[in-house]
Amino acid sequence: MFGLICLRYNPGMDDISRSHYEELKSQINFHNYRYHVLDAPIVSDAEYDKLLNELKQIEAAHPDWVTPDSPTQRAGAKAADRFDKVRHPAPILSLANAFGAEDARAWFERVRKLDERVASAKFVVEPKIDGLSVVLHYRDGLFMQGATRGDGEVGEDITANLRTIKAIPLRIPLSQSANLSIPKYLVVRGEAFIPINEFDELNKRLEEAGEKTYLNPRNTAAGSLRQLDPALTASRPLTLLVYQIIYSDPEKTQGLGGKIPTSQWELLEYLKALGFPVTDVAKRFDNIESAIAYTETWNKRRDELPYEADGMVIKIDDLNLAAELGVAGKDPRGAIAFKFPAREVTTKLLDIRVSVGRTGVLIPNAVLEPVEINGVIVERATLHNFDYIAEKDIRVGDRVLVKRAGEVIPYAIGPVTDARTGKEKKYKPPSTCPVCEQPVEHFEGEVAWYCVNAACPAQLQRNIEHFVSRGSMDINGLGFKIVEKLIDTGAIKDVADIYTLTRESILEAVTKKDRKTEKEPPGKIADNLLSAIAASKNQSLPRLITALGMRGVGEVSAGDLARHFGNLDALSKASVDDLQQIEGVGPNIAEAIVDWFVRPANQKILKKLKAVGLWPSEVENGKKKEGALSGLTFVVTGTLPTLTRDGVKEFIELNGGKVTDSVSKKTSYLVLGEEPGSKFEKAKSLGVKIIGEEELRKLVLETK
Ligand code: IVH
Repeated sequence: MFGLICLRYNPGMDDISRSHYEELKSQINFHNYRYHVLDAPIVSDAEYDKLLNELKQIEAAHPDWVTPDSPTQRAGAKAADRFDKVRHPAPILSLANAFGAEDARAWFERVRKLDERVASAKFVVEPKIDGLSVVLHYRDGLFMQGATRGDGEVGEDITANLRTIKAIPLRIPLSQSANLSIPKYLVVRGEAFIPINEFDELNKRLEEAGEKTYLNPRNTAAGSLRQLDPALTASRPLTLLVYQIIYSDPEKTQGLGGKIPTSQWELLEYLKALGFPVTDVAKRFDNIESAIAYTETWNKRRDELPYEADGMVIKIDDLNLAAELGVAGKDPRGAIAFKFPAREVTTKLLDIRVSVGRTGVLIPNAVLEPVEINGVIVERATLHNFDYIAEKDIRVGDRVLVKRAGEVIPYAIGPVTDARTGKEKKYKPPSTCPVCEQPVEHFEGEVAWYCVNAACPAQLQRNIEHFVSRGSMDINGLGFKIVEKLIDTGAIKDVADIYTLTRESILEAVTKKDRKTEKEPPGKIADNLLSAIAASKNQSLPRLITALGMRGVGEVSAGDLARHFGNLDALSKASVDDLQQIEGVGPNIAEAIVDWFVRPANQKILKKLKAVGLWPSEVENGKKKEGALSGLTFVVTGTLPTLTRDGVKEFIELNGGKVTDSVSKKTSYLVLGEEPGSKFEKAKSLGVKIIGEEELRKLVLETK
C-alpha cells in the first residue's frame, strides 16, 4: 500500500519528462537569482533544497540531459594543475586615482580641456569595491568562460572557480529579459569579493577550529579564486557585482532591434535586467560638484557598505564621449577613482620591541618601516602578545599588513607570506624583562608573560599612572611628564611616596627641564597638586585596593574585597582559600592577591601608606560615616571638571555628607558644573549656596 502511494506521488525517474526537468532547472536558477543577486528569496532554504534534490535525482537517471547551466554543475569540475591563459577581447583597463576633491576637480578640468562636451556631462558614481576584477563571457546567454584581469591583455582561465559563485548567472534568463537586446556574444566585467560579515564569520569558524585565520577580505577573495580545486573556491563566501561591458557582438541572440545602452547609468540598469548583480549605491549626477559631494558622503559612511570599498569611481555617463577621450597608459580618461583614505597598508617589520605594562605584562610592539595610513605616519603597531606572533607566524623582516581604523592603535594583522625572501627571522620572546632584566613569568590560563619585579622602573611609571587615575585615587595633576620627572629626580620610588612629596620636590621636578613649556607658574602647579594629593587621602578602601593594582583586581572585585575584609590589614592576612570564599574571586586572582602582599616592596608601600594616615576602612552597610561634610546635604548639577557623577557622590558620602536629587530649602550646597540643568535656577531662587568642585574639596580640607 505504502509503496503504491509513493509511486503515485513520486513517479519513477524514467517517467519524468524532459520539459519538467528544464522547468525545474529554470525554477531553481530563478530562486538562486532571487537569493544571491537580489538578496530577496521567496522560498525557504528547505524548499530550495527539496527542488535541488529532485533535480539531482532526475540527473542521476538522465545524465545525458545535464547542461552546463544546471545549478548542480557549479562545483562539479575537477581540480586542475594550472590555469590556461585567456586573451581578453579588449583591454581590461585600470583607473587613475584622485586623493580628494581637489584632485577630482583637476581631473574634470583636464578632460574638459580635451573636450568641451565634458563641461555639461553627467556623471555616475559607483563604489570602488576592493576585490578582484573578473571577466565573464556569455555565448547565446550561456556562461562560457571566466578570467582574471591578469596584465589587462591576458588573464587566467578561472571558469571552474567562477561557476561556484552563485551570484554569477550560469544562463542569462532569456525569457525574463524578453524585451531586451542580448548580444550573441557578451563579455562583462565585475568585481568578485567576500562581504565583510561573511569574512568575519569565516575567520571565526577557522579560529574555533584552531586553524589559521585570513588577513583581509581582498586577499582571501583573490586567493580563493586562484585555487586549483574549485571545491575549495566553493567553500568561500564569494560574491560579485558587475559594472562594465567589455565586448558585445553586434549580432543578437534576442531582441534584434534593441540597442546596447550608451550611457553608464542605463548600462547598469541593463545589466541588472539581464540578471546580473549590480550595485544599488550607484547614482547619476548632472555636474561634477554633486558627484564629488556624493563621493564624500560615502567616505564618511563607508562602514555601512557590506564590503570593503577603497573609494568611489566617478565615471562620465556618456560612454561614447568617455571612449572618445581615450586612455592614458592603462587608465581611461573618462573615469577617475576617488580614493578613500587607506586603512590598511603593507610595510616592512624592522624589529619587535617589548614594552612593560602596568601589571608587568610584556607587550610586543612592531617597529615598522614608516608608512602613511590615512594621513598619519605609522612607525609602531601593537602585536598584542607573544602567542599572536607565533599564531600568525610573524617574522622580523616580513612585509606585514598593518591596519589603522578609527581611534584604535595600529596593529599588525599578519605577514604577507608571498613576499618572503627567506631572510626573515622567527621571533623568540625574551626570558627576562627588557627594562629591569629580571626573569619573566607566565601564569596558567593566560597568554601574557609578566615581569613580576615590583621595583621594575617601567612598572613604577605605569603603577603611578594607574594609582592616580580617575577610577583609582583620582589625583588630578600627576600626568605622565611630571611623574617621569619625579621618578628621575628620585622623589618617587613607589606609589606611597606620592604622599611625602613636598612643594620643593614638586617644584624641582616641574622646573628641572622644560619649565618654559608649562603654561601655569610652577608654584600654582605645586599647590594644586598638593591639594589634590591631600584630598585623595579621603578615598575609599575599594578605590585604594583598585589603585594598588593587583593583577586581575578591578573596581568590582576591589569593592567585594573591601566589604569582606574591611581594611588592608585583614586583606593582607587572607589566604588563597579565604579569598576564594568571595564570589568572583577565582584561584588565579586569589593567588595574585596573596602574591602581591608577600612581596617586600609592597609591604614597604603599605607601611608608608599607614604612616601618612592613608588607611581607609570600609564602613559597614547602613552605618553612617562621620566626616567633614556630616549633616550637610548636596545636590549636583552639570559636568564637573574632574569628578564624574558617581565620583562626586562617593566623595561627598565618604566625608559624611548626603547627596539628593532635587534642590529644596534644606539643600546645604548646590555643586555646580558646566552646562547645568534646571536645578541651578531653582537653587538660585531658593538662595541655596552654590559651589564648584574646587570649593567642595576645600570644604573637606579646611574642616579637617
Ligand atoms: S571601472 C574602464 N568600476 O578598481 C573601467 N572599477 O583601480 C575601469 N573596481 O581594476 C574600471 N569597483 O578592479 C570600475 N565600480 C567599479 C569598480 C572598479 C572596483 C576596481 C577594478 C579596477 C580597479 C581600478
